[in-house]
Amino acid sequence: MRAQSVDVGVEELEERLLREEFRYQKITLPSGRSVGVRDRSATAAAIFPPDLTGKSVLDLGCNYGYFCFEAKRRGAARVVGLDVDADALRKARLLAQCLGLEVEFQLRDIEAEPLAESFDYILCLNLLHHLNDPLTLLRHMADRARERLVLEVATLGPHDGRKLRLFPLMRRLLLRYPVIYVAPAAAEAQRKLKNYYLTPKALENLLLMQRRLFASLEIRPSEFKGRFLALAHRRRIRHLLLVAGPTAAGKRTLAAALFGGALPELAAALELGDPARFGRLVRDAELRRPGPAAVDALALRYDILRPHFASIHGYARDPVLDVLACAERVTILTIFAPPERLAAQLRAAEAGKRRWSKRHRRMLERYESGKVLEDYRRWLAFSERFAGAERWVVAPYEGHALHPADAFRRRLAEAGGG
Ligand SMILES: C[S@@+](CC[C@H](N)C(=O)[O-])C[C@H]1O[C@@H](n2cnc3c(N)ncnc32)[C@H](O)[C@@H]1O
Repeated sequence: MRAQSVDVGVEELEERLLREEFRYQKITLPSGRSVGVRDRSATAAAIFPPDLTGKSVLDLGCNYGYFCFEAKRRGAARVVGLDVDADALRKARLLAQCLGLEVEFQLRDIEAEPLAESFDYILCLNLLHHLNDPLTLLRHMADRARERLVLEVATLGPHDGRKLRLFPLMRRLLLRYPVIYVAPAAAEAQRKLKNYYLTPKALENLLLMQRRLFASLEIRPSEFKGRFLALAHRRRIRHLLLVAGPTAAGKRTLAAALFGGALPELAAALELGDPARFGRLVRDAELRRPGPAAVDALALRYDILRPHFASIHGYARDPVLDVLACAERVTILTIFAPPERLAAQLRAAEAGKRRWSKRHRRMLERYESGKVLEDYRRWLAFSERFAGAERWVVAPYEGHALHPADAFRRRLAEAGGG
């Protein structure tokens, strides 16, 4: 009896749905009949693995919820679809009921408030070009996607290029560069232009060069209007060791000794497990090359003088520090060397060079004047914001004495270091 009443419910829901107008995503109903026009199954197959068991998925600009339903069918634990179109969401809710799939649909303008929650998968398909400020949303999504950020992006392909009235040669040329094409959308409503068109190279620079959150980015052509799909795979590090200090503090020397087993007491005090698993100290440039998403142990070198030479205007704007948000466990080990030692080491490292670079001259000035102590204090104060990180200062010139970072910063401040 119960099953029969459920079946009747589904039939009624189907009839209601078939009387509605669906202009976009094609969705198949339990009886095999369908609503909507656009078959989006090729995109679903490209962006989702067959099994999403236990994952959380957020679909921004979900429309009638096609991708939410596909995520749920693949076993996703929690699926949230968000759209600004109340009528599309009303239909999406009816469809969810009819299909018997539990999806949370939220009526929301994604530009009105930033994303507060993190999800394993975040989808943003054919949405960026509608927005007033796609770059802000891109930053927020990058911060919030725990495993994969998926985009389907309007670009300068033949379909959009024709609407933009671009010469084919020009269009193909622009496509090779990191271009964000700004369209005169409002004035050209009859051509149904949108606001922005991004080339794959532009997206690559935005996600892989300007940030360090993703280990790799797959770009694939999309069957949808000659657009492209981008699958950004978030870096996931079990234990990150950030070896910090100013230039010539001895970061590489310390790491080689630590990972080579020459400093067992320090390794034990830092609870590094087998220090050899860190292998070697990685430079920022290496993070910009594609690599595996999941890593057991990573040791990253960080120069605390970067705000002076990397045009980042302070640590808070440094993309290298994105990596800290990608690790389950973070140890920040700052190497303290007294200013006179730093000056001597910099001179030794630069010995034999005909001319010192401007950058090294500026550093030597900071070391000789003792201003580098301000850099230490500022860095240690900044690193307090990494709640949950284990923060230490090691002093190689005091027999590798290890100090809790906060106590060391107070000591520096009392001694007049800023
Ligand atoms: C071109 S459709 C894409 C639908 C779906 N993502 C897909 O690719 O099949 C764009 C969707 O984004 C929604 N949208 C546009 N601007 C939005 C905003 N500011 N916040 C939330 N949704 C928005 C529209 O209502 C529409 O459903």
